[in-house]
Amino acid sequence: MHTASAPAKVILFGEHAVVYGQPAIAVPVSSLRATVQVTSGKGLHIVAANLGRTLPININADVVDDALALTAKLVLQTLKLPAPDLTLTLDSQIPMASGLGSGAAVSTALARALSSALGQPLDNETLNTIVYEVEKKHHGTPSGIDNTVIVYEQPVYFVRQQPIERLNIAKPFTLIVADTGKSALTRVAVGDVRKLYEANKDHIQPILDAIGSLVKDARLALEHGDIAALGPLMLQNHAYLQEASLCSTGLGARVGTAMKAGALGAKLSGGGRGGNMIALVTPETRNNVEQALLNAGAVHAFFTMVS
Ligand code: PMV
Repeated sequence: MHTASAPAKVILFGEHAVVYGQPAIAVPVSSLRATVQVTSGKGLHIVAANLGRTLPININADVVDDALALTAKLVLQTLKLPAPDLTLTLDSQIPMASGLGSGAAVSTALARALSSALGQPLDNETLNTIVYEVEKKHHGTPSGIDNTVIVYEQPVYFVRQQPIERLNIAKPFTLIVADTGKSALTRVAVGDVRKLYEANKDHIQPILDAIGSLVKDARLALEHGDIAALGPLMLQNHAYLQEASLCSTGLGARVGTAMKAGALGAKLSGGGRGGNMIALVTPETRNNVEQALLNAGAVHAFFTMVS
């Protein structure tokens, strides 16, 4: 039996602006994973345990609408192999449509498990290309940051169409990740920013530039272990995203709650409009902030060490 998995991720800085060529920083969340188990079967099937559905895969179909089926098809095309008699059972702990990279993690785990069950495990570069193709089909114009941080499972300083840069985090720190409970489609948020950009470039371009500039400052702070500098940068980044229409009442309120409870900084993370927010905490403030967010209506909150 073959098993493979892939982590969730959070974007620390630079979401949305990254679509326009600005840098962004993302880290894997290794404690939260999508896992795929491969067993023998009749024909090729994907069982999505969490979603309660079983999918027969027809890799000869011209149009494959399902992201999981498309991943399997691209793996087999890359390996030049016919559909095998295998059942791929997916089990994901990562909530969907909430900015934690669930789609990319599921595709990565699936492609890894299938290719290794076929005796030809894909290298990360090929895997990254496949997962990006799936992301493109289902998310419009993704920057590629999600698949990159998830496939390589390393902190990344990401610039679209540039070689991947691993980010060296000099001093570990703790983040609370809290789910507003409102799912929001990244594709829609990205499309709305595009409309704003087309309608009023003079207003949006300086915001994107300012985000890019603060991401560079954040990189230096992370590389020098200057954790205290990260909090104000997170708040600034959140304010810029708010100006670009990406906040929601719930997200804005949660950021306020986290700050009042003692966080050093907080912001939305990922597509925005709902989904998850992140708060920078210390060992002393961690429980307080987590509890305050849950009391304020976050449906789920957990902490993760970033290192
Ligand atoms: O919502 P998520 O976790 O998929 O994050 C998307 C990040 C964006 O910058 C908004 C889009 C992108 O493709 O980079």
